Amino acid sequence: MPKASGRDGGVHLFLPLILGACLFPVTHTMEFDSIPRRTIRIEDVFDYKRFSHSVYNYTTFWLEEEQGVLYVGAREAIFALNMKDINDKSMKMIQWETPSEKRLNCLKKRGHKKVDCYNYIRFLQRFNETHLFTCGTNSFNPHCAYIEIEKFTLSAVHSGKEFCPYNPTVGYTGVTIDNKIYVATLYGFHSGRANIKRFPETHSFQMEDWFSYSPNDLDFVDSVLLRESDNSSVGDDDKIYFFFTEKLAREYKFNGKPMVSWVARICKSDKGGMKILQRKWTSFLKSRLVCSIPEYDFYYNNLRSIYVLNQEHWQDAVFYGVFVSQWQNVESSAVCQYTSADIRKAFEGPYKEDQRSPQRWSRYRHRVLEPRPGSCITDEFRKAGFRTSRDLPDNVLSFVKKHPLMDEEVRPVGGRPLFTKKEVNYTKIVVDTVTALDGKQYNVMFIGTDNGWIHKVVSSGASTHIVEEIRLYEDLQPVESLVLARAQSESDSRHYEREQRV
Ligand SMILES: *[C@@H]1O[C@H](CO)[C@@H](O)[C@H](O)[C@H]1NC(C)=O
Ligand SMILES: *[C@@H]1O[C@H](CO)[C@@H](O)[C@H](O)[C@H]1NC(C)=O
Repeated sequence: MPKASGRDGGVHLFLPLILGACLFPVTHTMEFDSIPRRTIRIEDVFDYKRFSHSVYNYTTFWLEEEQGVLYVGAREAIFALNMKDINDKSMKMIQWETPSEKRLNCLKKRGHKKVDCYNYIRFLQRFNETHLFTCGTNSFNPHCAYIEIEKFTLSAVHSGKEFCPYNPTVGYTGVTIDNKIYVATLYGFHSGRANIKRFPETHSFQMEDWFSYSPNDLDFVDSVLLRESDNSSVGDDDKIYFFFTEKLAREYKFNGKPMVSWVARICKSDKGGMKILQRKWTSFLKSRLVCSIPEYDFYYNNLRSIYVLNQEHWQDAVFYGVFVSQWQNVESSAVCQYTSADIRKAFEGPYKEDQRSPQRWSRYRHRVLEPRPGSCITDEFRKAGFRTSRDLPDNVLSFVKKHPLMDEEVRPVGGRPLFTKKEVNYTKIVVDTVTALDGKQYNVMFIGTDNGWIHKVVSSGASTHIVEEIRLYEDLQPVESLVLARAQSESDSRHYEREQRV
C-alpha cells in the first residue's frame, strides 16, 4: 500500500536535543563526515500520524497553515487533509484519471515505460481566494485545472502543454504570485526545451532561446519569490529566483566540470521588450551557484533542493542548498548556505561575454550601458522615463539578450559547506528557527535522504551536528517532499514527508 505520511514533534522533544547539541565540543574545522548522535525509528518517538490511500506517487504538497489544510497531489488523485490529524475523517479527495483511450495511446507510444502513463499531479498551489490551480501529466498529455476549494472539485480543465511537463520525472518548479503563475520545466513529449513561463497572459510569454548550452539536460529544482520592493508602491522590484542544474556538453565544461548548478532570476514586473525580446524576459540573468571544498578543489555540482529562511524580509533571507556528488568514488552530500546579499551582488556585478575562444566565456570588460541591462523597472527607472520594460532602448535589450550570464559566482557563507555527509544522497531540506531555553536561536535543518531517513541537523555558531537520524520507512524509499508547519507557538513544529513507493 502506498502511503503519505506525516509526523509531529513538540516542544518537549525539541529543546533538550538542541541544548544537548551545545554541550558538544565546538570545533572550527569542518567535520567531513558528520556522525548522527542518535538513531531512532519514527514510531518510537513522535506523536506520529500516517495517511494512506489506494493510490500511488504522492508527488506534490501544498500546505495552508491558516486554514489547517495539507493538500496532496498524487497519481490520479488530489487530497485535502486536516493538518492537525492527516488521518481523520474530514479528508476530501478528487479523482482525476486519464481517460482510458488516452492511456492506451500513451502506452502505445511509450512502449515499455508503462508506469508513466497515468495522471501524475505535478503542480498544486493556491491561485486566488476561492481556487487552487493544478496540473497533471495525464499520460503524456498534460492538463491543468482550477480547483474550487469550497466544493473541492475540478473546474475549467484545459490543456497544460504550455505549462506542465509531459514526463512525470522531469524537474518542474513554479510559484504563484498575484494571480500569475511562473513555472520552469522542460516542455514537450521528448522533454523538449527548457523554459520559464508566466501565465495566464494574453500572449504567451517566455525565454529567449539562449537559455542554456544543452537544453535537454536541465533539471529545475526550486523557485523562490523575494519581495525586494522596499519603497515601491507597486512591488516592481520583486524577483523570482530559479534554481536548476545543467549537464554540460563537452565543449562548454566549466573548469572541467560536466555539471553545474545555477541560480537565475527574473523580475516580476517584466513585460518583455518592444522590438527586441518581444514577449520574452528582459530581466533573465543567471549565475553559478557554487558549493565546494576549496582546499581540495572539490565541487558538489548537483543541487537537489533549496529552502529559504526569512523569506519575508529579503535582506535577511538565507538560502540552504542540498547538493550531492561523488567524493573519492563514494556518494556524498553537502549543505551550503547563501545570503540574499551575496546572490544580489553577483547579479549586480560584471557580466560574462561569449568570446568564441577555447575558454569561451570571460568577463565583459567594457562600459556597462545605462540603464543597466537586466534590471527590474523600478520607480527610479520610471522617473527616467522607462515606464515598463517595453520602453527600454534596443541596445540595452540586445545586450541582455547576449549577456545573460554573470561573471561572479555565488559562493556559500564561509566559503565552504555547512557540513558534509558521506555515503548519503540527500533529497530535500527544510529549515526551522527555534529558540532554546537559554534564549539563543538555533537553525534546525530536516533533511530527507533517498533511502527513507530524515537527518535532523542543528547549527549554532561555527559548529553543525547531525543530532538525530530518524528512520521514516523500513524499505529504501526516497523522501521526495518535505514541508514545515510553523505552528502558532514557536517551539511547536510539525512537518510532513511523503514517501514515493508502495
Ligand atoms: C479565482 O479564479 C477563478 C479562475 O479564474 C475564477 O473563476 C474565480 O472567480 C476567481 N475568484 C476570485 C475571488 O477572484
Ligand atoms: C510511482 O510509484 C511507483 C510505485 O512505487 C514507482 O515504481 C514509480 O517509479 C513512481 N513513478 C513516478 C513517476 O514517480
